[in-house]
Amino acid sequence: MIFTREMTAEEAAGLIKDKDIIGFSGFTAAGCPKAITKELAKRAEAEHAKGNSFKVGIYTGASTGDSIDGELSRAHAIAFRSPYQSNKDMRAELNAHGAHYFDLHLSELPQYLRYGFLPRPNIAILEASDITEDGKVYLTSAVGIAPTVARLADKIFIELNAYHPKELKGIHDIYEPADPPRRREIPVYTPCDRIGVPYVQVDPNKIVGIVRTNLPNEVGAFTPLDAVTEKIGQNVAHFLSSEIKAGRIPASFLPVQSGVGNVANAVLGAMGENKDIPPFTIYTEVIQDAVVKLMKEGNVTFASGCSLTLSTQAIEDVYAHLDFFKERLLLRPQEISNNPELARRMGLISINTALEADIFGNINSTHVVGTKMMNGIGGSGDFCRNAYLSIFTTPSTAKNGQISAIVPMVSHLDHSEHSVKILITEHGVADLRGLSPIQRAELIINNCVDEEYKPLLYQYLQLGQKGHTPQNVAAALAFHDTFNKTGDMRKVDWKNYIQ
Ligand code: COA
Repeated sequence: MIFTREMTAEEAAGLIKDKDIIGFSGFTAAGCPKAITKELAKRAEAEHAKGNSFKVGIYTGASTGDSIDGELSRAHAIAFRSPYQSNKDMRAELNAHGAHYFDLHLSELPQYLRYGFLPRPNIAILEASDITEDGKVYLTSAVGIAPTVARLADKIFIELNAYHPKELKGIHDIYEPADPPRRREIPVYTPCDRIGVPYVQVDPNKIVGIVRTNLPNEVGAFTPLDAVTEKIGQNVAHFLSSEIKAGRIPASFLPVQSGVGNVANAVLGAMGENKDIPPFTIYTEVIQDAVVKLMKEGNVTFASGCSLTLSTQAIEDVYAHLDFFKERLLLRPQEISNNPELARRMGLISINTALEADIFGNINSTHVVGTKMMNGIGGSGDFCRNAYLSIFTTPSTAKNGQISAIVPMVSHLDHSEHSVKILITEHGVADLRGLSPIQRAELIINNCVDEEYKPLLYQYLQLGQKGHTPQNVAAALAFHDTFNKTGDMRKVDWKNYIQ
């Protein structure tokens, strides 16, 4: 009888109250609900206009489309938000303390919710391609935290989105591990292993509303490759092929995890074009456009992920050829796609993008000049700490050269020198394995730093020759301080920082 509970998005939003905590399906803008939150934003604005408080807490898989993060942040309707976002209005809201944001490793969120470490979501909103009377929910183009929030919530709303074909059934593999002390090994040994069921089982009595929609995902287009991203991609591909030749990566290759964003898309493209890299599999969180192309060309044989974060053109291509793609794609909850146990077991080659790196190999993935949140740590920590080989890429400069992405000391630390094995920019590769801090610093400056910043960083090393890690604590953040004062790190003058 669940279909007697069909309602409009406005009616569904009317059933959500101030201080409710909502957990959403989806991961990135893929598979997220898109209708109820737009109405919820209008409701919040109406309540605020009457002088009433109206804010909800929200948990998502990762970032979302504008209909969640954009609409709700513009309406100032968010009390707290976790775990990852990339919407400019949401970014502005949380950097202004309009919403509290806590950033955490994506694989950890479902278990933290089950353990009771975080406030429990009392409402779940799931986007589905199909649903049955006995509560089997077939998701759309992503999974995220859907199984966990659907189980923990008291009320479930379903957005039944006709844009996604019912034939998607079978692409998902839903599995939730038991909690300690009863947890056993997760029996995934290769990216294509299935261990669960193709639907999220929910208690049908908890479904309070079904809203029919027909809406595409709100995935933004990728920036076309430029000379810098193209060169980074080639440097990664060349490095990996040399590792195969050296016998440090098996000739049959290993599953690849690749991060989010434009650089990640370029890296995969270059790997596909490199003749020394054999056709490979992917075990990752976000399946981006490059994977679809590589699959059609035969360079990627299988991809397991948490979402199909594809442009409209790419997802329509997948949906038009589902027979081909369903044999090669699998979508899992983020607890499984990003699981540290599986990353270590399968020996992932992990390639993520840094916002900033330092000359000793520490990585800042999240904070612009130390204070402003960009997106969040995402899955980069889940993977890099546990990978067979962890690579970080970054363009050597940002903002037309006014910022060096390689600095004396990172202004915020997400991944330490202990997890970072290889650093790659458009200028070259620094293989940090087995090197001492001073050796790492010399190699990174020599191979990865932009010419305009090389002399400045060599001068910095001279300032800090004492101790195992030759930092100069008085000058370690001088690049950032100079940028804040002048808008250009190249204007750093060490005399201002040392006596
Ligand atoms: N300081 C300040 N700003 C910087 C910067 C630095 N060191 N480096 C880059 N930027 C700016 C760029 O100028 C650009 O700004 P714009 O949006 O105003 O143009 C922006 O940051 C994004 O840079 P871009 O080169 O387009 O990067 P991207 O799309 O490849 O994304 C990250 C890079 C780091 C933001 C992204 O990969 C990320 O969120 N990573 C963290 C999560 C993660 O690794 N997930 C993967 C796990 S699977």
